This record gives sequence, C-alpha cells and structure tokens, in this order.
Amino acid sequence: MNRLEGKTALITGAARGIGLAFASAFIAEGAKVVIADINLEAANNAASKLGDAAMAVHCDVTDKASIEAAVAAAEQAFGGIDILVNNAALFTAAPIIEITEADYQKVFGVNVYGTLFMMQAVAKGMIARGKGGKIINMASQAGRRGESLVAVYCATKAAVISLTQSAGLNLIRHGINVNAIAPGVVDGEHWDGVDAFFAKYEGLQPGEKKRQVGAAVPYGRMGRAEDLTGMAVFLASKDADYVVAQTYNVDGGNWMS
Ligand SMILES: NC(=O)c1ccc[n+]([C@@H]2O[C@H](COP(=O)([O-])OP(=O)(O)OC[C@H]3O[C@@H](n4cnc5c(N)ncnc54)[C@H](O)[C@@H]3O)[C@@H](O)[C@H]2O)c1
Repeated sequence: MNRLEGKTALITGAARGIGLAFASAFIAEGAKVVIADINLEAANNAASKLGDAAMAVHCDVTDKASIEAAVAAAEQAFGGIDILVNNAALFTAAPIIEITEADYQKVFGVNVYGTLFMMQAVAKGMIARGKGGKIINMASQAGRRGESLVAVYCATKAAVISLTQSAGLNLIRHGINVNAIAPGVVDGEHWDGVDAFFAKYEGLQPGEKKRQVGAAVPYGRMGRAEDLTGMAVFLASKDADYVVAQTYNVDGGNWMS
C-alpha cells in the first residue's frame, strides 16, 4: 500500500475500462489521478465516483492544443505530473482491400500520434521539474504480430512498442522510465466492439468471438481490467526504477517474448 504516495498520475482514456481500473488502483496506492478523456461526461462521472483524489479533464489526444491544455490543467491542479499512462485507443478491423484512409488516420491518430505527443508534453514538465517520472504506454498482443483482419490496429500497437523503446532510451537520462504493457484479450466495452467486428467479417453470432478467444487463453478465461493493475502499479512505482524501454505481456499466457 501507498507505493504511489505523493504522486500525480495522468491517465488518458480513463473514463472507462482498463484506464478506469488503473485510476482506482493508483488512488488506492496513495496517488492523485487525472482522468483525461475525450468523453468529458464519462470522465466526470468516473472522477466523482473516485472521490477527491481524482479530477477529470477533457483531452483529445489527436489534438496538440487539447493535449497541452489537459497537461496544463493537471499541472495547475495537482502541481506536476509524475506518472503518465497512454491508455486511450481506438480499435478497427477490416480486410486489407476494405481499409479506408479515414479509418487509418483516425486510429493512427489516437493510438500513435496520441501516444507520442502525450509523452512529449508530459516529459517536458517532468524534465523541467527534475524529479524524473514514469510513463506507461498501453500496447497489445496485437502489436506482437499481424492479424488477418486487424492490420491497422496491429500496426498501431507495434508502433507503440517501438515508440516505447525509443522514448525509453531517450528519456532515461532524465530519470524518466518509459515502459509498456501488452494485454491480451480483456473483457469490457472495448471487446464488445471487437466482437461486433468479427461477427460482421467472420459471420459469427454476437458473443461467439469472445467465447473463442477466452477459451484459447492458457489461463482459461479472458482478462479483466483488474488483472492488469498490479503491473501498472509496479511500473508506476520506484520498484521499476531500473526497468527501461520494456513491453510486458500481461495476457494469461497468450504470447511469449
Ligand atoms: N480490452 C482489450 O482487450 C485490450 C487488449 C489489448 C490492449 N488494450 C489496450 O488497452 C487500452 C485500454 O483499453 P480498454 O479496453 O479499456 O478501451 P476502451 O475502449 O474501453 O476505453 C478507451 C477510452 O479512450 C477514450 N478515447 C478514445 N478516443 C480518445 C481520444 N481521441 N482522446 C482521449 N481519449 C479517447 C474513450 O473515450 C474511452 O474512455 C487501449 O490502449 C487498448 O488498445 C486493450
């Protein structure tokens, strides 16, 4: 307990799902948390349930002005960001010949541009304060290899793993650790959307893809957001000071690397 006492974390896309579970876990460890989400209403609801240690800010990670405004609001309210989690992401799926430019731009915008320019905005403040920091990027098993119907999302998550390596190597000189978590299949609203894509392209009944992927996990079931919080707290804490530029699989045994 209290492994994050006195720390402030900004988590993008934390109005629901895995980011919300991280917000709750970080607060339980003594941190203050900024929920930065494009859906301000959902972010406000989440923050009010989490209590005084949480605040919500609107943030569209595809827009540099919005990123800078959210980071400034967080720094002003809580006096500086010690931990950044780049968690906001979009999913998409389509056969190669049906991928649209609009979908490509939208998903790369959130998953890759958002990750890079959030790191840049927050790292500037961390460097200026001279106390180091921790950055956690949400990758995916989808970044470890391509998938037939998931070219764009897989490519964005491979990019997140690569950005984690480059930023990790570049920022450790400032005491900023950059690492990533690669989840497998985590049940929730995100996977409801994934399931719908597979129902469309593979002719499956709704819920069938979820059942298939859950049965295929060596652990024996789909992940839950809470299965990831231990790794997130570890990477956000001083226990991870010597961990640099790594991507950790937390996926019930789906991938080995
Ligand atoms: N759920 C899974 O199975 C799974 C597996 C591997 C990796 N991941 C990754 O974990 C992370 C969290 O996943 P999740 O399942 O909680 O997702 P989710 O879809 O439930 O939540 C994503 C959040 O991001 C927000 N968001 C979307 N666009 C945004 C933008 N432009 N700016 C700011 N916020 C924006 C949404 O409002 C939402 O609150 C993502 O990076 C995802 O790719 C999830």
